[in-house]
Amino acid sequence: MRLPQIGEKVIVEVPSTSANLGPGFDCLGVALSLTNEFTIQRIEGNSERFELIMESTEGNHLRGGPENLFYRAAQRVWKAAEVEPFALEARVKLAVPPARGLGSSATAIVAGLVGANALISFPLPKEKLLELAIDIEGHPDNVVPSLLGGLCLTAKAASERWRVIRCEWDDSIKAVVAIPSLRLSTSEARRVMPKNIPIGDAVMNLGALSLLLQGLRKGNGELISDGMHDRLHEPYRWGLIKGGAEVRSAAMQSGALGCAISGAGPSILALCKEPQARIISQSMVRAWEIAGVASRAPILNLQRNGSECTKRVDE
Ligand code: HSE
Repeated sequence: MRLPQIGEKVIVEVPSTSANLGPGFDCLGVALSLTNEFTIQRIEGNSERFELIMESTEGNHLRGGPENLFYRAAQRVWKAAEVEPFALEARVKLAVPPARGLGSSATAIVAGLVGANALISFPLPKEKLLELAIDIEGHPDNVVPSLLGGLCLTAKAASERWRVIRCEWDDSIKAVVAIPSLRLSTSEARRVMPKNIPIGDAVMNLGALSLLLQGLRKGNGELISDGMHDRLHEPYRWGLIKGGAEVRSAAMQSGALGCAISGAGPSILALCKEPQARIISQSMVRAWEIAGVASRAPILNLQRNGSECTKRVDE
C-alpha cells in the first residue's frame, strides 16, 4: 500500500439514486443518470482537517470538518486498511440536490469510501466498501446502487450477510424525476411510519414488488403499473409532500406507467416509455406550480456503471 503525496488527486463520479420505487422499501434502489463529481486530494495537515468546497449554490449549507459525512466515510476506509488518517480536500460539482430523496448523502458516503480507498491504491475490495457504506447509511437501498450502478435489490440474509441482486431494467423504461424546491429529511419521513403494519399490507407489497421487478425486466408496462404500489411507507408520507398527490395524478394522467415517492421524498419518480416522457415531465412541473412549489423534472436513464474513479497526480 502506498500513501498519497500532498496534492495527489482522485476524481470520483457518483450517481444519484431513487430508493424504494414504491413497494421495495429499504431494499430496492436504482442508479440514475444525474451524478455528483468529487475531486479529492491530500492536503497538508492532520486527521482533523477536511476542507469542503462546493461548486454549486445548492450545497452551500454543507460544511467541512472532521464530522462531515464524506470524511467520516474516508476515515472508515483508513481504519479498515490500518492506515494513519490524513487531511483531505473535496471539491464537489453537485448535481444531486440534498434532502430531495435522490440519495445525495449516499453520494457523499460512497465518494468518501471510493476516494479514500483510491488514494491509498485500492487495498479494500468493493464488497468491503459495500458493507461499510450500508453500515454508515443504516439502510442499503441508496448506497448499493450508488456504488454498483443499475437496479439493485439488497437484503440481509438469514446468515446476516448482505446479499445484492443486480436486477434487469429494460432500456425502454425512462425515469422522470420531479424535484421540488422543498426539502424533506429522511429522519422526518421515517418518523411518521408506524412500528407495525397489517399483514394484508405486507402481502400486498410482496406481490407488488414481484410484479414490478418482472415488469422492469421485460419492459412490460402493465406489470409495472400493477406493481408500482406501496402500503408500507407511502400512505404515511404523501401528506408530508405539499402538492405531492396532485403531481402523482398529473403524471399518471399523462401516461406514466407508475409513480412513487423517490426514496423518502419529496421528489417524485414516474416511470414511462420514451414517447410519454416529455409530457409527463411538463405536467408534473405544472402540477407543482399550481400548488405553489417550484420544481424541475429531468428525464433520466438507468446509470449502469456505479461509482467511477479516475486517478491523476499533478501539481
Ligand atoms: N428506504 C429509505 C426510506 C430511503 O424510504 O426511508 C431513504 O434514504
